[in-house]
Amino acid sequence: MKNTITICFANNKGGSGKSTTCSNVGAAMAAAGYRVLLLDGDMQCNLSLALLEEDVVLEYAKSARNLYYGIKEQKDLSDYIISTPYENLDLIPSSTLMSSIEFELFSKWQREFILRKLLKKVKESGTYDFILMDAPPTLGAWVMNLLCASDYLIIPVEASPWGLFGLANMFEFLQTTREMAPDLSLAGIVITKVDERKSYFRQTLESLNNLEDISVFSTLIHVDSNVEWAQDNSKPVVYYRKSSRSAREYNALAQEILATVLKS
Ligand SMILES: Nc1ncnc2c1ncn2[C@@H]1O[C@H](COP(=O)(O)OP(=O)(O)OP(=O)(O)O)[C@@H](O)[C@H]1O
Ligand SMILES: [Mg+2]
Repeated sequence: MKNTITICFANNKGGSGKSTTCSNVGAAMAAAGYRVLLLDGDMQCNLSLALLEEDVVLEYAKSARNLYYGIKEQKDLSDYIISTPYENLDLIPSSTLMSSIEFELFSKWQREFILRKLLKKVKESGTYDFILMDAPPTLGAWVMNLLCASDYLIIPVEASPWGLFGLANMFEFLQTTREMAPDLSLAGIVITKVDERKSYFRQTLESLNNLEDISVFSTLIHVDSNVEWAQDNSKPVVYYRKSSRSAREYNALAQEILATVLKS
């Protein structure tokens, strides 16, 4: 593979499975031999917590070695990469200070492109096959930065009555961003937290399949308590419980994403 491919997991709806999907797809790609960098773009630090113990995450969050300082000081982000316990899987950790990132961006020149600029050297070095980014549940200048630095967007949607609420805003935001970053593509929507005991997920699937020109990944991510136990143990479920249904699903989703982004 020649170029580093950047993928952002975003949805303004909170709790839709962005961080869980991003961490597990990243871990699945790394386990399959791809070199992956995860970028934690959310003040909740959930992507960092998915891979590292809480005290380690807090240590980075309190230090100057996190994404917030990289953006604030406009430094090349190569210097902010840390390794994780997993082969082929590195991380740029976040900080709770990311809560004021909109304010930091406000006065900066060409503020939508700061992240793209600061990731340029990492991308050009060819060290990684993929950079996967986790977005916060907002739509503002920071998420626009994440999208402007991405080749692809993946939208995790929770299979619940409110899961689709606000999706129109997300699409509108994508359209606006594309005016600045015309090469950004929507790789697809992934349906998460499907509960077979409830029939509601079929409704979600039907509504999404009715959207023109929007593809929905065929892998469904079901609710699985192994995901929560894995997170409690600071591990991706694809490593924590390899034989679980969710591990199989995240591996299948990673393969589906690879097939989508590598063919274009
Ligand atoms: N497949 C799953 N099975 C069980 N629980 C899940 C699954 N996916 C996500 N969850 C749980 O759902 C909650 C929300 O997931 P997650 O944090 O990934 O969503 P998010 O979109 O990143 O949220 P936010 O908008 O706050 O960033 C978490 O508590 C997570 O443990
Ligand atoms: Mg999250």
